[in-house]
Amino acid sequence: MKNTTNEIRQKFLKFFEKKGHTILPSSSLIPANDSTLLFTNAGMNQFKDFFLNTEKKKYSRITTAQRCLRTGGKHNDLENVGYTERHHTFFEMLGNFSFDDYFKKEAIMYAWELLTSKEWFNINKNKLWISVYKDDEETYNIWLNVIKVPAERIIRIGDKNNTKYNSENFWQMGDTGPCGPCTEIFYNYNIKKHYNSNDFLENKNEYFIEIWNIVFIEYNRISSTKLIPLKYKSIDTGMGLERIASVLQNVKSNYEIDIFQKLIHNISHFSNIKNLNNISLKIISDHIRSCIFLIYENIIPSNEHRGYILRRIIRRMLRHAYKIGIKKNFFYKIAPVLIEKLSENFKFLKEKEKKIKEILKIEEIQFSETLEKGLKILNTEINKTSNKKISGKTVFHLYDTFGFPVDLTLDICREKKIKVDLNSYYLEKEKQKKQSNIGNKFYENYNNIININDNCIFEGYKKNIITASIKYIYVNKNSVSSISEGEDGIIFLDKTSFYPESGGQIGDIGELYYKNSRFIVENTKKYGNTIGHIGKVIIGTFKINNVLYTKINKLHRHQIQINHSATHLLHSALRNILGEVVAQKGSLVTNTRLRFDFSYPKILNLSDIQKIENIVNTEIQKNNLIKAQNCSLEEAKKKKAIALFENKYDSIVRVVFIKNFSIELCGGTHTTRTGNIGLFKIIEHSSISSGIKRIEAITGFKAIKFLHDQENNIKNISISLKTKSTNIKEKIEKLIIKIKYLENKVNMLQAKENRYQIKKMIKNIENIKGAKLLINTFKNYDYQSLRSIIDQLKKDLKSAIIILINKNNDNFNIITGVTKDLIEQITALEIIKNFIQHTNGKGGGKKEIAEGGGCLNIINLSKILKIIKSWINSKLKNKNT
Ligand code: ALA
Repeated sequence: MKNTTNEIRQKFLKFFEKKGHTILPSSSLIPANDSTLLFTNAGMNQFKDFFLNTEKKKYSRITTAQRCLRTGGKHNDLENVGYTERHHTFFEMLGNFSFDDYFKKEAIMYAWELLTSKEWFNINKNKLWISVYKDDEETYNIWLNVIKVPAERIIRIGDKNNTKYNSENFWQMGDTGPCGPCTEIFYNYNIKKHYNSNDFLENKNEYFIEIWNIVFIEYNRISSTKLIPLKYKSIDTGMGLERIASVLQNVKSNYEIDIFQKLIHNISHFSNIKNLNNISLKIISDHIRSCIFLIYENIIPSNEHRGYILRRIIRRMLRHAYKIGIKKNFFYKIAPVLIEKLSENFKFLKEKEKKIKEILKIEEIQFSETLEKGLKILNTEINKTSNKKISGKTVFHLYDTFGFPVDLTLDICREKKIKVDLNSYYLEKEKQKKQSNIGNKFYENYNNIININDNCIFEGYKKNIITASIKYIYVNKNSVSSISEGEDGIIFLDKTSFYPESGGQIGDIGELYYKNSRFIVENTKKYGNTIGHIGKVIIGTFKINNVLYTKINKLHRHQIQINHSATHLLHSALRNILGEVVAQKGSLVTNTRLRFDFSYPKILNLSDIQKIENIVNTEIQKNNLIKAQNCSLEEAKKKKAIALFENKYDSIVRVVFIKNFSIELCGGTHTTRTGNIGLFKIIEHSSISSGIKRIEAITGFKAIKFLHDQENNIKNISISLKTKSTNIKEKIEKLIIKIKYLENKVNMLQAKENRYQIKKMIKNIENIKGAKLLINTFKNYDYQSLRSIIDQLKKDLKSAIIILINKNNDNFNIITGVTKDLIEQITALEIIKNFIQHTNGKGGGKKEIAEGGGCLNIINLSKILKIIKSWINSKLKNKNT
């Protein structure tokens, strides 16, 4: 094939290299240290600081092919994907950049040359249309007079809503950042028709495809209303690789270009769809690219931030897979095939093939059931609606009860042209939020009240005791100047050795003191950037500006530290044994135990648990040094430190090293050597929600005590069983066999006894209006036997009313049975209800069998039975009438 996507990428870079540009690699999809962006959304992102002149530029001309993702923030194309021929979540942007070097004229000339010259892309000039910002005369004139594009094909684009620069021809990176007016080059598909500028404006998406955007970066946007002119001017251009490929490969849709056709072809094998133009196939082919690249960048599906976007993409893709008949284990099978295809150009993807496969698999398993259930309910609702509208309540119910994502509901409804009452959805959501917040009110208020805009320096990594001075005191939520003996409160200092509860590690305890005054610290927490010492004055008074000692409880801290270091060892051991699919979902480190939640789709068996324990204990025995070091986030990533990289970290981070075995970003406190942990023992493992596992463990002397308790238990059991500890298993197995044998024997004897009782009872059958009535009392009979006597009697007598009463001291149980032919006239439940009315008992059951019980005075029994009999008589119809 001529002009493959790979060739086009190469040609673009080559062209600009010839024009003096340095070719640089694409940066990561996760912008480095830029909290204004969720994902890299344009080629210029990595050069933001060059544009803003906040970093010394290393080059003045650069060209790149940048991987981009547009699924959130200012540039979000997710909803359009599949429904237009052009939009993608993931795509590549070809770009050339100039910093304080060439500007409008050269940028436009370069673009024109690359697009139209025979040597390069050789596009027919007559097919190209231009848009410019309405007031940008200079650019307009370059197109008209230098490039010689006819005036009717240069369209001026104005502002929307009369807001300056709110225009399609003014580009900005996000809500803030570099920006400027732009000129765009369009390709006209339908050249046969003679278009004018109105046609262009109306038809832009159908026959005109935007292929290149050239931005004249002149400003820094610092707020929605404020632009600051930049010190020097720059050029930022962006050409969607997939779009230019569709033009050069002469196809009408991006999905028909070489790389997508390969993907779509492969996906279709798994479906029952033969038409490669199917929307779901397009959506899957787009989304799977995003997923593969995102997981490659260490993003893991979750409910927040970047992980949430990934989850949305995966779920949308699964829904479409389901729609075209792909039901189970889809990702697992397709991912390697697609990675193989994608790695023709992105070799690095292969490195993480296993991880990508595993993560997609977990998400698929977790979501499949929800999807199936949710779709059923939603389809029923859609079929029921007469006005083609779904209520917000239904949407909320689907989400709240079944976990069916709202955006999927919207997606499906949009496809089926069903409206959704979103307002009522938001009202439902609000209502629920309010209800669930009621219980939290006190704490919310409390935290709001203590709103101290200050810092407290934590010096407790190295020291257990330091001197500090009091800055604020709170008693009963009020800021006060002193706190005295007997009062509870919170003391805030300028610095402290107390670690505040954070990152899963609980707060320190200890005391604050000076001279004779003592404040017992019962907990330590963060309040904004400062640290509150929560506790009680037991002697003396504390005043603002007092200088005091901060002394933590060393033993308590030591126990927390060994548990924290053990948690790091556990985390690494889990990843070693179970693979990189293990991602931390939560942790708690206290002085008595540790708890670690993580994603893992399979069941953990005892042998996994023992392997994990062995690895951790081996590391403990090595007695390795545990060191913490501050470094840049980049360096930490290079060292492959474990972190939730989807989280926002400062540019300088603290990394805790346990040799090479565990390298993890962590602000917590740790012991100095692994040997201090002594022993690591898992005491509980469970599944806390789908795909999330929990391990609880103990260390040191707690672990030894746990083993001692177990040993004592076993000893006691062996004494009871009268055997040696090593023989318990055999002994119990023998006992089980014996019990089974005895049970059988008892059952046989009981059956014999029942038959005897039945024989005896049958003599007492009365006849009421042609129906057989049998009433019998027993003493200390078991329930199961009474039940089988009733069943047997029903069989034998065929048509009967049976009342069996079992006396047990002053208590009784009653079971009643009525054969099917009589339940029209009287039911077993009615008899029970009538009986317990006279005895203050309780009961329930069905028409043919019911039971009850309560307290009974034996003297009354014959009276009650008399009443019951005459009532039964009144209920029964005469057989002959
Ligand atoms: N940064 C410009 C865009 O993304 C080129 O369109």
